[in-house]
Amino acid sequence: MSIPQHYQRAKELLAKHGQSHLLRFWDDLDDARRAALLDDVEQLDMELLAGLIDSHVRNAPPLELPDRIRPPHALPNEPGDEATRQRYTDARALGEQLIRDGKVAALVVAGGQGTRLGFDGPKGAFPVSPLRNKPLFQLFAEQVRNAQRRYGTGIPWLIMTSPTNDAATRAFFAANGHFGLSAEQVLFFTQGTMPAFDTDGRILLAERHRLALSPDGHGGTLRALHRSGVLDRLADAGVTVLSYFQVDNPLVHVIDPLFIGLHAETRSQVSSKTIPKAGATERVGNFCVVTGPDGADRLTVIEYSDLPDELAHATGPDGRRLFDAGSIAIHLFDVAFVQALNAGGFGLPFHRALKKVPHIDDAGRPVEPAKPNGVKLETFVFDALPLAARTMIYTTRREEEFAPVKNAEGSDSPATARAAMVARAARWLGRAGVAVPSRPDGSPDATIEISPLLADSAEELASAIEPGSVVPARGAALYLEPQAG
Ligand code: UTP
Repeated sequence: MSIPQHYQRAKELLAKHGQSHLLRFWDDLDDARRAALLDDVEQLDMELLAGLIDSHVRNAPPLELPDRIRPPHALPNEPGDEATRQRYTDARALGEQLIRDGKVAALVVAGGQGTRLGFDGPKGAFPVSPLRNKPLFQLFAEQVRNAQRRYGTGIPWLIMTSPTNDAATRAFFAANGHFGLSAEQVLFFTQGTMPAFDTDGRILLAERHRLALSPDGHGGTLRALHRSGVLDRLADAGVTVLSYFQVDNPLVHVIDPLFIGLHAETRSQVSSKTIPKAGATERVGNFCVVTGPDGADRLTVIEYSDLPDELAHATGPDGRRLFDAGSIAIHLFDVAFVQALNAGGFGLPFHRALKKVPHIDDAGRPVEPAKPNGVKLETFVFDALPLAARTMIYTTRREEEFAPVKNAEGSDSPATARAAMVARAARWLGRAGVAVPSRPDGSPDATIEISPLLADSAEELASAIEPGSVVPARGAALYLEPQAG
């Protein structure tokens, strides 16, 4: 089809949906820009958008909570009795076997915009480790390498990017030799986008020839995995489980044999890690059980802002908080489950966020809004949980596995993540019989960094070092890595 034909089609479609302003600058554009604009317009699913503009853009959709919201059952971090101890031992062995057999792939979602951090580049390139300044991606890559060595296998690593950061992410990996992994095992795939709207439901222009598009949320992972062909490639290669995590958490255990084994043993389609919340209204999602359309119990995540206060503060007979299972965005997805979702044409619900969206105004002048001016629509991956008939939640510890880098300063910042990395390293050393000097407040009085190539758990560190071989001095900087040769 020629450009004029394309233009005619786009013009009619946009007119039908009250979006004709998107072609306002057509006469000013050269052919390349016209083609780019038509490309953007053709990717819009106008039927879907028309509905969403009514339900989600002009107004916030009413909050619809399920009738009976109950606390979930979560497996404990440590087994409390002999039977559970044996169960965990068996599950760990099963998980290790699955990894050895090449059934497990790692999956990081790295398509976000990272606006709060404000780093110039993909968030995974952010230098985060306390001494070596290793970027987030390197910390994950080294865990994958370590697991490959330990289990004598190859582990595919999937990286979801967005159209905005895909090229920069690939270039970062190439420039760093894929951090010692083979280029073939690192599989990039790109998520979809959604347009941003003004509050009247008009799609915003980023430039005269480009729509203001942003990634469609981490829920976009499940569809992008399929559309990119990556999911079927993995299935053909025998991979059955995806170990899902976010790019901003340097403490995550990328490949966790116990978690994987419990997932397999419970025949779950999706499993999640949880931590006890720091407070009733901590800003994390809450795992809850609700009744599904088929009358069966379904696991779901209710955002902190949506959980009714009386539930957030409710306590049981023992005085403990009932809704205490916080979500830290670490999940296992069965490949077959994600394939079935895609075969069935699933759709995750959209969430509305009022955000600052830079754009051009009707005269073509750039606008850098000082306060939120636009509506973005995103889907969230945890909304797939209620679609799974079988799920499992395993409790982990915050200090062991969760220290997200969200903000440039203050809470959830590089400073808090580094402190958490040092504290965890000191704890692991303590477990290995090495005393680390501490400050009066209990924090380690030494800066310690453990290479994920040496150990990615306390147990592995304990078997990797002799207690007397490491003596951290007060105030020292100590980097532990495998000995050459
Ligand atoms: P966040 O919700 O923290 O968003 O993403 P963000 O985009 O990284 O940061 P802000 O809100 O702009 O400051 C949590 C995780 O989900 C990924 C992010 O890359 C991060 O790993 N994500 C988020 C995607 O992969 N795609 C998206 O569309 C949104």
